[in-house]
Amino acid sequence: MDENKQRGQWGSTFGFLMASIGSAIGLGNLWGFPYKMGSTGGFAFLVVYLILVVLVGRLLMMGEFALGRKTGLGVGAYAKLGQKYKVIGWMAAFCPFLILGFYSVLAGMTLRYCVGFLVQIFGMDGFAGQGSGFFGYLLYDTKSMVLFLALAMLVTMVIVMGGVQGGIEKFGKVAMPALGVILIGIVIFVAFQPGAIEGYKFMFKPDFSQFTDPKSFFNVLKVASGQMFFSLSLAMGINITFGSYLAKDKDIQKNALIVPFSDTLFALFAGMMILPACAAFGVDYGAGPGLLFASMQNVFLDGMGGMVGNVIGFLFYFLVFIAAITSSIALLEVLASGVVDKQIAKGKNPNRKMVSILFAVAIFIFALPTAMDALGSGGAAVPAPFELLGLEIGGEGYAMWNDCWLDLYDMITEGVLMPLGALFMSLLLGWKFPNLVKDECEASGHKFRGEAYTKFAFRFLIPIVMAIVLYTQIQAFFL
Ligand code: PHE
Repeated sequence: MDENKQRGQWGSTFGFLMASIGSAIGLGNLWGFPYKMGSTGGFAFLVVYLILVVLVGRLLMMGEFALGRKTGLGVGAYAKLGQKYKVIGWMAAFCPFLILGFYSVLAGMTLRYCVGFLVQIFGMDGFAGQGSGFFGYLLYDTKSMVLFLALAMLVTMVIVMGGVQGGIEKFGKVAMPALGVILIGIVIFVAFQPGAIEGYKFMFKPDFSQFTDPKSFFNVLKVASGQMFFSLSLAMGINITFGSYLAKDKDIQKNALIVPFSDTLFALFAGMMILPACAAFGVDYGAGPGLLFASMQNVFLDGMGGMVGNVIGFLFYFLVFIAAITSSIALLEVLASGVVDKQIAKGKNPNRKMVSILFAVAIFIFALPTAMDALGSGGAAVPAPFELLGLEIGGEGYAMWNDCWLDLYDMITEGVLMPLGALFMSLLLGWKFPNLVKDECEASGHKFRGEAYTKFAFRFLIPIVMAIVLYTQIQAFFL
């Protein structure tokens, strides 16, 4: 009990769920999902993504919750299973660091757009006279990029310093339901715009043309699987950490259904907000990572226009910023709790505040190249990886991963470390500790469902899918 007090524990299942859902729902849903669906052909991506979440993602999440609660630790859980597994924990801990290295920059950008629309509501120009060309301008406005990155990091840090119940849980309980309400409101608004129907067709009209060519199929698989890891916050210790704060009487299996379900629902809503809006206002689906910024701003500013556009634009970016913050606090929490646990194990009084501050500063520095390379548009304050390598935009050797620092950090995590972590975890849970998940789930007195499939998935299905994903990723790396 004493230890629980020092580490922290969830005040209620609702709080746990809101924090977990808050971690899962973020820029991955609102920024990543629509643009990735937009650039890989809509329907094909959606189908592969849904299959992956049902067959693989939810099991990985359940495994992580169980692992966390069983060991009572976050990323340290693997070392507790056996010293030789320690490296998996390290791999997992490295991911949040890398992800925050770009996530915080994106969060800062959404805050900038939010402020921009707020200022517009009061009749002033919020976008430096650039109108919907603001995206390209902001990327080279190094001072603003760094300032808003710092603000995003600061907000995250303050919440994590507050601890499990006081900070993370409190924030999640209010922010997540509010988010749902605003999101649905915008979905309905967009549905009434003429031309929106094309966007729904793009998402939901069966089209199997991507599946006939193996190359495009594997590409869809790779993108969808990366998206699944990212969106469900898998393979980086988050769900392990959150599971470790979960009381023994809680039903893990049920929670491992609610979280992925909500996450997927939000991603679908985000798709149904952004893609039909693009269709209605003549914005290209395949605009890539800029879709959330450049294209949506276009929708509010030029498509809707006037006061309505400013207000909806403000609400929209405010919503995205909140979603980003609930995720980045989870990311920082993994790192902070890892050290707090170590301090407790050594018999020291943990210093959560100090640890949070140190990590936040380190991440801020690490994120600077992402904020200053103009997302690889060339000739920015900090050269992008491809420029350092002496390559030309679009030329030979120019690839996704060396395009900009964001893509490099993203590829290392989503593309390599997470599938690798998931591969190791499922092998461990499938072969070395085959009863761990079931026993831990049943420890609360609930009966475990789907035992045969779970065994099969941990032993064979997940490792095979992960191996394919890694292979495709490595191939793309040397392209
Ligand atoms: N799942 C979050 C999103 O979709 C991102 C995230 C990843 C959050 C990893 C926490 C951990 O935006």
